[in-house]
Amino acid sequence: MLIPGCSSMRQSHKGNYGYQRIESGLFHNVKCSWLHSCRCQQSESASGISTENVNGAWFVDSAQKFNPINGVVNGPDVLEIQDVQQLKQEKEGLASSGAHGTIRDAPHKISNDSIEDEAWDLLRESVVYYCGSPIGTIAAKDPTSSNVLNYDQVFIRDFIPSGIAFLLKGEYDIVRNFILHTLQLQSWEKTMDCHSPGQGLMPASFKVRTVPLDGDDSATEEVLDPDFGEAAIGRVAPVDSGLWWIILLRAYGKCSGDLSVQERVDVQTGIKMILRLCLADGFDMFPTLLVTDGPCMIDRRMGIHGHPLEIQALFYSALLCAREMLAPEDGSADLIRAMNNRLVALSFHIREYYWVDLRKLNEIYRYKTEEYSYDAVNKFNIYPDQISPWLVEWMPNKGGYLIGNLQPAHMDFRFFSLGNLWSVVSSLTTRDQSHAILDLIEAKWADLVADMPLKICYPALEGQEWQIITGSDPKNTHWSYHNAGSWPTLLWQLTAACIKMNRPEIAAKAVEVAERRISRDKWPEYYDTKRGRFIGKQSRLFQTWSIAGYLVAKLLLADPSKAKILITEEDSSLVNAFSCMISSNPRRKRGLKNLKQTYIV
Ligand code: GLC
Repeated sequence: MLIPGCSSMRQSHKGNYGYQRIESGLFHNVKCSWLHSCRCQQSESASGISTENVNGAWFVDSAQKFNPINGVVNGPDVLEIQDVQQLKQEKEGLASSGAHGTIRDAPHKISNDSIEDEAWDLLRESVVYYCGSPIGTIAAKDPTSSNVLNYDQVFIRDFIPSGIAFLLKGEYDIVRNFILHTLQLQSWEKTMDCHSPGQGLMPASFKVRTVPLDGDDSATEEVLDPDFGEAAIGRVAPVDSGLWWIILLRAYGKCSGDLSVQERVDVQTGIKMILRLCLADGFDMFPTLLVTDGPCMIDRRMGIHGHPLEIQALFYSALLCAREMLAPEDGSADLIRAMNNRLVALSFHIREYYWVDLRKLNEIYRYKTEEYSYDAVNKFNIYPDQISPWLVEWMPNKGGYLIGNLQPAHMDFRFFSLGNLWSVVSSLTTRDQSHAILDLIEAKWADLVADMPLKICYPALEGQEWQIITGSDPKNTHWSYHNAGSWPTLLWQLTAACIKMNRPEIAAKAVEVAERRISRDKWPEYYDTKRGRFIGKQSRLFQTWSIAGYLVAKLLLADPSKAKILITEEDSSLVNAFSCMISSNPRRKRGLKNLKQTYIV
């Protein structure tokens, strides 16, 4: 028998924060208090806000009239004969097997509405319940895969597009439950070989398990079982989880209008724990977060250890979101001051040192090296020979991007999509840089979008470089998986970035490319090959964040104003502090001296 409304914690809370949370009386009686109120809210939210079509909506169907970018994209809705045949066969096959099939209308045209309906059905089927309430979505529900690994879990990062899709649909409960339950997991006692990571760490994923009830063999209860990386392949720490959690929390408040969640004492404590972990002093010389390999969406060895862009963009975004949500109180003054200083230093560092375009490349090409001095131009001692031959050819005349990583004597020139897109969404990049990133995506459409949006990074590591950097990882061979595979989930971040810069037509075009195959291919996790032509070698089918990423892109294009729940604008205090740093000429002056005098929090 399953005990409904149960929430037994297998392990004890640890440290002050855990106890504080229990003392606040918000969780020790999970069973009765808030799960009940969730159920009440469920009925309220069913009649709540729904996505409206407003003027300026970008329907993907209407994107068919756009000119192909770079002439790469084929005619929009006419399927090739073989596609139609395959479609017909598949339709028949699926109908006879009773499997969850794709829904299509006339054989010559895929109905985008049907794809959307199918996506919603699949997203709802992926919902995971805990004690009777929706709490998240499973990573993949692939009936063809025998090797489940941890794809039957709720991943924090994978849930973000699901959560946003539900928010945009006016279904708030699942997001609220997710936020509050994952918060509970933050205080879990976690160890790996007797070592505990920092207190504010959020798990990569969790699973709802049904276990025998203590002392009663005939009964069972449901428990949440988190994985902080101690079971994950490679034991990677999920640095991005807490950052995404903060971003989702703000989106929840903005979309639902319910600020009571972010105002709760335990939630405020949770935000502070994540921030304190990120802002803790270490050995770092840079304002960027120092992490090991695989700390984010790329959760395997891919040579992104150090200061990878994706983490920096999420860190910046989470700092801005948290600053908006933290209640002003005496106890947080130091924290808010530290956040403000970090925001300025981080944006300066990324805008100045991560940025490359043709002009900057030429500058690097002519760098002098071994400059021992406070006013070195080549601060990180980059040897010009590091400019890879591919980049000289690849960099367009118009456009630019943020590099993947910067360390002493090392620039990782690979283009990482998520880091660049989220830098646009969060205003980590300047307006000009943001436009230049979109210019580059347009100019390099055949490399980054091609037959399926969007490459996770570009280019692929090959040969000896692949051997050395990935450790000869057979899953990350060139143009596959994290090594420049194509990930449909990235559509939603692309769409948010395009809408922020008022260029939604770029995202609409990419959505249209995805719509030609994504449903027919059964919503794969990723695609392989240089043009993204094959379903990935080990790709799961019915991968939830591919489904949700597509839905969020569609919902945002239908009502671009909704993107504001994700976007953060640069505020004037940051702009002032930043221009103050620029005018102090970073190439000449040392450190943040000027800033510290002028930037008063
Ligand atoms: C893979 C991906 C990771 C994702 C997980 C679940 O490990 O690399 O980003 O969260 O699958 O989908």
